[in-house]
Amino acid sequence: MKSNTEFNKEIDENVQGNATMVESNGTNGKKLYLESYGCQMNFADSEIVASIMSENGYNTTKDVDEADVILLNTCSIRENAEQRIRKRLTEFKKKKDSKSELKVGILGCMAERLKSQLLEEEKLVDLVVGPDAYRSLPSLVEETDGGQKAVNVLLSREETYADISPVRLDKNGVTSFISIMRGCDNMCSFCVVPFTRGRERSRDPETIVKEAQELFDKGYREVTLLGQNVDSYRWNVNSKKEIIDPAKPTVNFAQLLEKVALVNPDLRIRFSTSHPKDLTDEVAETMAKYENICNYIHLPVQSGNSDVLKRMNRGYTREWYLDRLKAIKDRIPDCAISTDIITGFCGETEEEHQDTVSLMKEVEYDYAYMFAYSERPKTLAERKFEDDVPEDVKKRRLTEVIELQQKSSLKNNKKYLNKVYKVLVEGKSRRSDEHMFGRNSQNAVFVFPKGDTKAGDYVNVKAHDCTAATLLAEIVD
Ligand code: SAH
Ligand code: SF4
Ligand code: F3S
Repeated sequence: MKSNTEFNKEIDENVQGNATMVESNGTNGKKLYLESYGCQMNFADSEIVASIMSENGYNTTKDVDEADVILLNTCSIRENAEQRIRKRLTEFKKKKDSKSELKVGILGCMAERLKSQLLEEEKLVDLVVGPDAYRSLPSLVEETDGGQKAVNVLLSREETYADISPVRLDKNGVTSFISIMRGCDNMCSFCVVPFTRGRERSRDPETIVKEAQELFDKGYREVTLLGQNVDSYRWNVNSKKEIIDPAKPTVNFAQLLEKVALVNPDLRIRFSTSHPKDLTDEVAETMAKYENICNYIHLPVQSGNSDVLKRMNRGYTREWYLDRLKAIKDRIPDCAISTDIITGFCGETEEEHQDTVSLMKEVEYDYAYMFAYSERPKTLAERKFEDDVPEDVKKRRLTEVIELQQKSSLKNNKKYLNKVYKVLVEGKSRRSDEHMFGRNSQNAVFVFPKGDTKAGDYVNVKAHDCTAATLLAEIVD
């Protein structure tokens, strides 16, 4: 079994993201190096950025030393995410000092949060571009040619980049992301996202279905529909729930799921993130109706105590959350559930923390992303509450939930032993070239001898052994 730190590191990296590089084709002779941090939505945005830059003639490179332009697509969710990026910017600053024509730009949530501060105070970058301003990137880069700085951090109520065909940066050619909405209107008190991503807006469903169809035609077999709160997806309905154009149909998230599921029965659908306050029975029913909508739901609880949830402004109680889980399990008994948890939120007592522990014991999550609370500037929590749980207490509580989750993950994986599951083959296993890996509908990872399978195939497998993270399996007929 993995050590605690390894487990935590893996979790942290999953959410904060690793640096990744893009390759696309262009012709203006200039080379772009793009590095991404943060959530899946930020990685999906990097594909939009790559597309816009490549349309404007930029060739991308994996080698930072041959770049003319360096762009960092950043995350502000926790302080350590920003610290990591600052460190990276300092490294790039050294490169700039020895290569005067090199441009460094910061994109994404940290750009939006700090705006021109990064230009004025620290002179680390030439370019600051927020998440709704990527269409202006090529002209902004051009503006910096004469040594000026360029900034566009305007947030939009409409921008969804619906017409831009993303350059796929995921290398497996089997699974991909589709952004279905942007922004967030929820104002959870700990969260910086509403400030960095702006108001919630949904993307035209026809462009989503078209993108799913195009991916399927290119050989992709799984799409994950992305939004900060997918359950509040709505098309042709305004925030007061009034129909905008009576001549046109309205589309909610359950209906969107159905439309994408109908693209092809061999295209698997996943989605993230569901919000417990908005998850409807209709979504669970649609999941149950279509075999290709995976039996897996990421339903972040954050805390198992209703008073803490109230301070977090999450809009639900422990009981409501458990009722939503029941609504899912009643319709999809084998549905896997994962969650996000924050330990040591403002004023969290030991008893309140124990409610999170007891909820985790009750639910036995398949997977969890767990974090110590990190105060973010301008959020409701920063303004209203004191960040009063000592750092060592936050960390101890975090360790406690991580250890508990490891046990649940192992127990859940054991449930899959000696049964046959259909998995989508995603590629070679990290352990050996002779093994492939794939996931079942519940998102559990199976590793098995290659045989004559290739990425994109569906195969039936049966596992004989497992760890908390992986099932060791054989292909069966
Ligand atoms: N929209 C998603 C969450 C996006 S952020 C939702 O509502 O569930 C991903 C996760 O980061 C959150 O679920 C939360 O667990 C964690 N997170 C967000 N802000 C945080 C903070 N200030 N400190 C620690 N963890 C935080
Ligand atoms: Fe942040 Fe809450 Fe919006 Fe999620 S739903 S992005 S936690 S404000
Ligand atoms: Fe980070 Fe922004 Fe995503 S803050 S988690 S990159 S929306």
